[in-house]
Amino acid sequence: MSSSVLVTGGAGYIGSITVERLAGAGHRVVVLDDLSKGHRAAVAPGVPLVVGGVGDVELVKRVLREHDVDSVIHFAAMSLVGESMERPGDYYEANVVHGARLLMAMAEAGVRKIVFSSSAGVYGEPETVPISESHPARPVNVYGDTKLAFERILEWQAASDDLRYVSLRYFNAAGASEKFGEDHRPETHLIPIVLEVAAGTRPELAVFGDDYETPDGTCIRDYIDVRDLSDAHIAAIDALGRGESGIYNLGNGEGWSVLNVIDAARSVTGKEIPWKMGRRRAGDPARLVASSSLAEKELGWTPEHPELEDMIGAAWDWMGRHPGGYPE
Ligand code: UFG
Repeated sequence: MSSSVLVTGGAGYIGSITVERLAGAGHRVVVLDDLSKGHRAAVAPGVPLVVGGVGDVELVKRVLREHDVDSVIHFAAMSLVGESMERPGDYYEANVVHGARLLMAMAEAGVRKIVFSSSAGVYGEPETVPISESHPARPVNVYGDTKLAFERILEWQAASDDLRYVSLRYFNAAGASEKFGEDHRPETHLIPIVLEVAAGTRPELAVFGDDYETPDGTCIRDYIDVRDLSDAHIAAIDALGRGESGIYNLGNGEGWSVLNVIDAARSVTGKEIPWKMGRRRAGDPARLVASSSLAEKELGWTPEHPELEDMIGAAWDWMGRHPGGYPE
């Protein structure tokens, strides 16, 4: 069934590719993005872009009504673990306060379905790996705590009225589609930084610590292709349409260390990629690897691009076609 979907943060990395794929699947889409981190050129042609914040209740209500929206996908957020430890107030304001205002606007406009862009960051340092949704949620950084706080708001709201929600806890998004990719300024994520070093636009990479309890001492993450992540949102919209709610992990179920990522990027690009060992970054758990079996079972979702080399290759191709990223 076709839906009319408001995508907040639809000019950002995961948002832009989700918008592209939602529109491709026949849904009507409108994007709300304040362009603080997103890019105008990242919004698929033909999709309306409203420039503004999710905390602006009057604006959100107007967009919901004018576009006859029935479901919201909420990406707009501050999303950097390191930065969140330095600017906690900004993270709670953007991710919790503005998120709560979005829910108020939805309630006033009678829109009762939301897909939320949550994070593996809610789990903190895992007690068991792979991590399932029933694993205790004890964030070890501010970013993860803001995501958990918004999930709690959703849970209470859904218990008190007819709100339905799907919360998607992403592990580490990677890769690109043909047209859209990753362009953060400044860039702090591992794979684009590694590829900038490969491309020669950044001199060197610092690996943040080799004294973790992992086989090579560097942190392990579960990288998941951004096209697969995006498709999970379409499956979530369909689930909401069937009256279902839920919380789902989205990952590959496989972990790669920082050094594994450098090796894979060397083999994809054929470049040397110099790096040096640096100190630990605050807030980094040693190992985050997903069990996504619930999403497979209930959303019918399985990753179609599980190979790290495929993701890095897609990101490398996109970077080659967009040297320097988006025009603005
Ligand atoms: N890393 C380096 N050097 C760098 C950059 C990163 O060694 O220059 C390391 C990090 O310490 C970490 C790993 O590479 O161990 C991945 O770091 P990223 O910054 O790419 O990603 P994070 O795991 O910190 O966080 C990402 C998203 C979050 C999300 C999380 C879920 O930014 O929004 O994945 O696992 F919550």
